[in-house]
Amino acid sequence: MAKKKRRETEGEINNEAQNTQSLANGDSLSHEKQPKKKKKSREKEKERQNDTVSSEISTVSIAVSGSIIDNAQSLELATRLAGQIARAATIFRIDEVVVIDNKTTSEDDSTDMVENSSDEDDTGAAFLIRILSYLETPQYLRKGLFPKHNSLRFVGLLPPLDAPHHLRKHEWASYREGITLKNQDQGSVGTLVDVGLSKNVVIDQVIEPGRRVTVAMGTNRNLDAGSPRQIVPSSRPREEGMYWGYKVRYASNISSVFKNCPYKEGYDYRIGTSEHGLVIKSSELTLPSFRHLLIAFGGLAGLEECVEEDNSLKGKNVREAFDLYLNTCPHQGSRTIRTEEAIFISLQYFQEPINRVSRKYEQ
Ligand SMILES: C[S@@+](CC[C@H](N)C(=O)[O-])C[C@H]1O[C@@H](n2cnc3c(N)ncnc32)[C@H](O)[C@@H]1O
Repeated sequence: MAKKKRRETEGEINNEAQNTQSLANGDSLSHEKQPKKKKKSREKEKERQNDTVSSEISTVSIAVSGSIIDNAQSLELATRLAGQIARAATIFRIDEVVVIDNKTTSEDDSTDMVENSSDEDDTGAAFLIRILSYLETPQYLRKGLFPKHNSLRFVGLLPPLDAPHHLRKHEWASYREGITLKNQDQGSVGTLVDVGLSKNVVIDQVIEPGRRVTVAMGTNRNLDAGSPRQIVPSSRPREEGMYWGYKVRYASNISSVFKNCPYKEGYDYRIGTSEHGLVIKSSELTLPSFRHLLIAFGGLAGLEECVEEDNSLKGKNVREAFDLYLNTCPHQGSRTIRTEEAIFISLQYFQEPINRVSRKYEQ
């Protein structure tokens, strides 16, 4: 989306974005003054590493080029496009969405570039990350976790993700996402957490305010009872078979997608998608048994361009960057399938092959 267009004022929209205070996705930001940038990145990196899912479960990540946003004609259309990616990721239980910025060299891949970008200068990738993160966050946490930002102006128009961790006030579940509030009164150890119920709960750890946490709710439904609840890694519900939303990650280019994989073992099977890929019927596609599968989608000029522009992959053919390069929608009637359409088509195409090798869901 052209910068000029993103800056345009398209009338006052009274959406949730106007109430938000700080960006968050799994790893969240504090309300308090920002500590020095380096320290913050280090802490976040540590948190991220502690938060990766256990290698016992298999995961599916998608990577998508942030350039798709640059071609949207208005802020509202860009927002709707980002909303479609978020819906696809949720419908197909994607664990991680990596947004590719087509930089020639790998740069700082922390989400700081998104958090620090001002109202005016969100790039396509930063914009996509912001909207994906916002939508993934349960509604009751958004106000406390997202600062006001121009990019969020139309997010209130989007259909909700309605994911299992987007719980309503009256619903009870074994886990709830929460935000830490001011510490308990002096003398008592613990932290109050807003988990979106009629009353806040107490956890037995002292954590600074404004952190997103996953709380194990235990069996006691009495919110007046003083017994503290436990916080757990955000991957815990997922390890127990529940879909618990997706993580969002920035990658400065396609090689950073692979290099900065959050899973210790890396992605063990990488699929690229393109109209120029191999044609195999979904029912005949046999995937190897995998721990961490990655499926990549290009922008207007496809994954070929992502590979060509990446200095670390100089001289490589796009097919060499992936274990499999697939056409998931042969005999197309339109000259081009748009990325957001290809994501839905492809994730449906991969459902059965993936289920055949690994994923078993209880919910
Ligand atoms: C506008 S298309 C890019 C077209 C580009 N000429 C190419 O060959 O990929 C944007 C993205 O949608 C996905 N896509 C489009 N058509 C596809 C198809 N038939 N099968 C699988 N993915 C497709 C790919 O990820 C592609 O990078």
